[in-house]
Amino acid sequence: MDITTIAVVGAGNMGHQIAICAALAGFRVTCTDTSAAMLDKASAFADTYLAERVRKEKLTQQAADQTLASLAFVPTIETAVADADLVIEAIIEKLDIKRTLFAQLDKLCPAHTILATNSSYIVSSNIADATARPDKVCNMHFFNPALVMKLVEVVKGPHVSDETVDAVMNAARKMGKTPVLLHKEIYGFLVNRLLQATRQEALKLLDMGVASPEAIDTAVMNGLGYPMGPFQLLDLTGIDLAYHVGMEKYRETGDPADRPSPTVVEKFIKGEWGKKVGKGFYDYEQ
Ligand code: 3HC
Repeated sequence: MDITTIAVVGAGNMGHQIAICAALAGFRVTCTDTSAAMLDKASAFADTYLAERVRKEKLTQQAADQTLASLAFVPTIETAVADADLVIEAIIEKLDIKRTLFAQLDKLCPAHTILATNSSYIVSSNIADATARPDKVCNMHFFNPALVMKLVEVVKGPHVSDETVDAVMNAARKMGKTPVLLHKEIYGFLVNRLLQATRQEALKLLDMGVASPEAIDTAVMNGLGYPMGPFQLLDLTGIDLAYHVGMEKYRETGDPADRPSPTVVEKFIKGEWGKKVGKGFYDYEQ
């Protein structure tokens, strides 16, 4: 199956960048969100981002114009997904909300449409049975910032057809990404399992009062050669996301070790969710 039209549901941290990426690669793209403010912000970001690429001579004006012409931010989900060959869901990490959305997408989309989730942790077999097309429901996991990071994890759950996997891998390649295929479903896939190990230890060291976020980030960047420290990365990906993911895992396993760390809970309650709100472990200009 040849994918030409993509709908991204959710214009947040990940969704708006996935949409711009797809439009830059020549797909026809719609991006929708229940929040008009998020859509406005995403649309303004696309204008600024593409203008900046032209200014930096990384993109021609013609390519920027074409990208904007093939990218629509639309408030109604019915319109957004009506012609999609592939829907990429990038909404909040709550299983019940995702299941409701996928049941709705199943009714709204053409029969051939592949429904992919960008979930960071939730495997698609927990969602696929909310639809009548489980063979066309899979994980397609991008990394933050999606315009920059090359990796996409594609997960072949037992319900997913080979045709779906091939189409999604090809779409990722066309987007300029490097897809990797997981042959088994596993919570957190590859990268987030590895990331979580570093992050948990960093939060533990902070909660124990061993060192500041700045010192731990400096240690990880200079001692391990990572481009960013764990606290800078938490601010980038969102402390709210870390909180919701931790709570989902805790609900699933009941293991207190899976609960979000006290620091993450405190920051979540205070609304200090990271870069997108101007404050997390660090302060940012808005
Ligand atoms: N959005 C779009 N583009 C961005 C960006 C952003 N938020 N931040 C940086 N860029 C672009 C810049 O425009 C620049 O592009 P150019 O070289 O083509 O002009 C390029 O990235 C480099 O930017 P900078 O020189 O400003 O900054 P750095 O060299 O420090 O790179 C970074 C910034 C790419 C974010 C780098 O620090 C990095 O790779 N950090 C690690 C990110 C990471 O680990 N991501 C994975 C997170 S885990 C995850 O996503 C899991 C998921 O489930 C949530």
